Amino acid sequence: MDNNVELIEQSALKEIESAASLEQINNIKIKYLSKKSELLSLLQNMKSLEKEQKIALGMKVNKAKETITNALEEKRVALEKEALEKKLQEQKIDITLDGNDFSRGSMHPFNIIVKEMVDIFSSMGYEIVEGPEKELDHFNFELLNVPKDHPARDMQDTFFINDKELLRSQTSPVQARVMLSRNGKGPIKIISPGKVFRRDDDATHSHQFGQVEGLVIDKNISLGDLLGTLQLFVKKMFGEKREIRMRSSYFPFTEPSVEVDISCFECGGKGCSLCKGTGWIEILGAGMVHPNVLKMCNFNVDEYQGFAFGIGIERTAMLKYGIDDIRRFYSNDIRFLKQFDEE
Ligand code: PHE
Repeated sequence: MDNNVELIEQSALKEIESAASLEQINNIKIKYLSKKSELLSLLQNMKSLEKEQKIALGMKVNKAKETITNALEEKRVALEKEALEKKLQEQKIDITLDGNDFSRGSMHPFNIIVKEMVDIFSSMGYEIVEGPEKELDHFNFELLNVPKDHPARDMQDTFFINDKELLRSQTSPVQARVMLSRNGKGPIKIISPGKVFRRDDDATHSHQFGQVEGLVIDKNISLGDLLGTLQLFVKKMFGEKREIRMRSSYFPFTEPSVEVDISCFECGGKGCSLCKGTGWIEILGAGMVHPNVLKMCNFNVDEYQGFAFGIGIERTAMLKYGIDDIRRFYSNDIRFLKQFDEE
């Protein structure tokens, strides 16, 4: 029987040694240390033995039990450690992997055009100025040579807030604001991009749209300077091949006033549906600053002259990109917006 204890112990230790999982460890524990195990049943079969032999065998069995228990515990700890290390190894973050691709917004075509205009005019030395969208009648009309009850008020269907205030119908009030701030002293060379509001709504008109106002005041400024400036702007915005022409027009705050057309980029001037057969597309209004406006804004008309222009932002974008409906700018359709993603 003594030999048996040793044999059992040896075979248990051998099995523990080669165990590869916590499950196997458990099975070994049941096999060698449960009540019905070979080792513990030795104790039940020793009734026939002498007292001393009983004691000696009891001690041996207990010793073997302890040895096996310790070996099992040691192996369990080792296996758990191994499993943890393996897990850590497997879950190691690989910083060389590509990250998740998250969707990035792109610049709105309206803002792309504003940015281009700002770039073009700043390169010509213009300052960028902003004005309020809620404006006084005084700046939007009166200082621009449109007194109360003047028929020219009908040119723009204006949103009035009360007798004195309105949502500006044009960026031109910024002209008056800038001139007044200079106390009759030139030169002035500014552009002012921003939103304007009119009671209009169809494929080419929106109740809200953008304009870029331009104003130059100095000594010896002529219509030729306006023409040269706009020629340069059009070539930079629409391409070197584009020509412009001026047609006489009417704005209350400029004299003479002109409407500026650009040679059609679809047909090159031959006539097509885009230019309605004329070879020319209208892009902006402009003119020489009216003497009444200069006077009201404290400039000496014998000393100073100037020109002004107003360019539609959406209109420029529609022509440049071939956009058919102004409402696309405000409908938030990602498929439309994505087409202007520059990257
Ligand atoms: N403010 C005019 C409009 O909105 C455009 C314009 C600006 C015309 C400056 C002449 C000079 O129609």
